[in-house]
Amino acid sequence: MSSYRKIGVLTSGGDAPGMNPAIRSIVRSASHFGIKVIGIKNGFEGLLEENFAELENRAVSDILTRGGTFLGSARCLEFKEQEYVNKGVQIAKNHGIEGLIVIGGDGSFRGAKDLSLAGLPAVGIPATIDNDIGCSDYCIGFDTALNTIRDAVDKIKDTTSSHHRCSFIEVMGNRSGYLAVHSAVTCGAEVVLIPEKPHEIENDIITPIMECRRRGKYHYIVIVAEGMGDTYALSKQVEDTMYSTYGIEVTTKVCVLGHIQRGGSPSIKDRIMASRFGYHAVSILNEGKGNRVVVAKNDTIIDIDISEALNMKKGIDDELYALSKILAL
Ligand code: F6P
Repeated sequence: MSSYRKIGVLTSGGDAPGMNPAIRSIVRSASHFGIKVIGIKNGFEGLLEENFAELENRAVSDILTRGGTFLGSARCLEFKEQEYVNKGVQIAKNHGIEGLIVIGGDGSFRGAKDLSLAGLPAVGIPATIDNDIGCSDYCIGFDTALNTIRDAVDKIKDTTSSHHRCSFIEVMGNRSGYLAVHSAVTCGAEVVLIPEKPHEIENDIITPIMECRRRGKYHYIVIVAEGMGDTYALSKQVEDTMYSTYGIEVTTKVCVLGHIQRGGSPSIKDRIMASRFGYHAVSILNEGKGNRVVVAKNDTIIDIDISEALNMKKGIDDELYALSKILAL
């Protein structure tokens, strides 16, 4: 017998491919346990505006293959204030919503924690292409974003190679270099620049490029994490220094991949992880547990306390970072 008869689901923060499969999994898993699901539009904002729609199994047909989130997402600043958190709990209660699943990143989990403490048990599901949430090995959206980056960089590499140029490709990741390091290894980049590792133009960009030249390589891909600052200025500086110091003319080009990385049909991995996370979230709410985040640890899905989850930090994969340098030459 289920503890809850009705739960809510919302997506919050930056969208990520795989949010839709997670919503589908929540709706159908809940139906399996005999629980009704209310879809809350546009994140916490929709909770405050009572922007609700009941989601039955057919309401989530055909969303498995779609990127984005059909519920809509938003970053809600009001929700940082206790007054609005309490209002959210009251609105949920008025609608008979006894538990909530929040799909998003760290900021969204803070909202879920505040709601739990104010009386509405909430469970978080990690979703961000940055894969920088400390508590979970995996966040929904990361694999699809990596595949999108791979497609783009493979194409840029063709033309970079034909013209013996140096392409600077900026990838997302906010303040984290996690996405950049994985992109560098999967795309065979010559250089990767991330906020976690301070860099010097001479040592960390020009020296590896010169070493590649010495070994007969005349095209260079530099993956730059967006947290590094102005990629255009950096590329110009490298081009100028190559000429002034070594007398070598290398044309640099810049491509900022931007929001293309956030879209697209979810990959197999994202569909599977979203389905597993969604089922687990409903199962624990069904057991009466709230204030939890569903996480992936060594290929197993578990859940942990939200406060504990928020204190966990994730660095980049140092082994992969070192490997990117070895394989570049
Ligand atoms: O967190 C996901 C992310 O795409 C980051 O990589 C990026 O810094 C940020 O969101 C961009 O946010 P917005 O879509 O609000 O510009």
